[in-house]
Amino acid sequence: MSILDKLEKINKEGQKEIFDASSLEELESARVSFLGKKGKLTAVLKSLGDLSPNERPAVGKKANEVRQFIESVISKRRKELESEALGRKLEEEVVDITLPGKRSPVGKRHLITQIINEITDIFIGLGYRVAKGPEVETEYYNFDALNTPADHPARSLMDTLYTQKDGVLLRTHTSPVQVRVMEKTLPPVYIIAPGRAYRRDVPDPTHSPMFHQVEGLAVDKNITFGDLKGTLEVFAKQMFGADRKVRLRPHFFPFTEPSAEVDVSCIMCDGKGCRVCSGVGWLEILGAGMVDPNVLSGVGYDPEEVSGFAFGMGVERIAMLKYRVNDIRLFYENDLRFLEQF
Ligand code: DAH
Repeated sequence: MSILDKLEKINKEGQKEIFDASSLEELESARVSFLGKKGKLTAVLKSLGDLSPNERPAVGKKANEVRQFIESVISKRRKELESEALGRKLEEEVVDITLPGKRSPVGKRHLITQIINEITDIFIGLGYRVAKGPEVETEYYNFDALNTPADHPARSLMDTLYTQKDGVLLRTHTSPVQVRVMEKTLPPVYIIAPGRAYRRDVPDPTHSPMFHQVEGLAVDKNITFGDLKGTLEVFAKQMFGADRKVRLRPHFFPFTEPSAEVDVSCIMCDGKGCRVCSGVGWLEILGAGMVDPNVLSGVGYDPEEVSGFAFGMGVERIAMLKYRVNDIRLFYENDLRFLEQF
């Protein structure tokens, strides 16, 4: 076989091998077997020196043409293989933008917070403002300033959580906020004070050592018991429904005189008597009364000039009545199956 025929054969073989290459790796090994240091074409080029001078130009020319041609075929095939590989990759990594995204769960307010906000909205609508006081309180604000004498049973170690510091305790009710506000404000005063209170109770379906109250206080000229009743009626109807009736039963609190416990007509049986209201037709929702003159004069108000009413309600109790929750502990267990219902 003449050397020119040999080159032509290499050319054909090369083209075939290159077109048959089905991956970039196969293409590279085809390239090496023709153009590499020990490749078939390289071997021919290396043998040019053995040819006679008159044969050399034609063979040299043909050898170069074959090399250029093989190189151009390789680069064409490489582009094809690269674009095939890219296509496969894109297909594998395809993102279906029509699939639903991952939803992060949206939180909501705890039922106790919702009820506090609801109570707050009602009283803001009546012209009240929101006040806050400390949960770690002194005996003075929690008891003395509220006309509660040193021998009152509520002050005992049995009922109250005292700190190690003398005369400092976890407030047993939100009523001390009344005093703190009056000390700093001249009448008229219209405030509510939502917050936590603490008592030395063992947890059971209706008791928790920590619970929430909303305190209310109105002091102005000519405030009467009728104003208290009217205010509580407006509150009860907005909170529990327009059909609710309100009743005040005489009671005793040291810081109000007269004092009352306040009931709403049962939200289940409408007063007829059922299991929820233990057959009496009424549900107790709060304590209230006319601010005792001793409390008013204690903060420097003149009981002859101004009068006032106060009330305090348990937030958990209201939530339990409104939603028929039968165990106060459910509010604090953070079980989403319970909390998500509200
Ligand atoms: N502080 C009372 C309690 O915790 C509730 C209360 C009763 C608040 C009468 C008042 C009130 O403001 O006038 O049981």
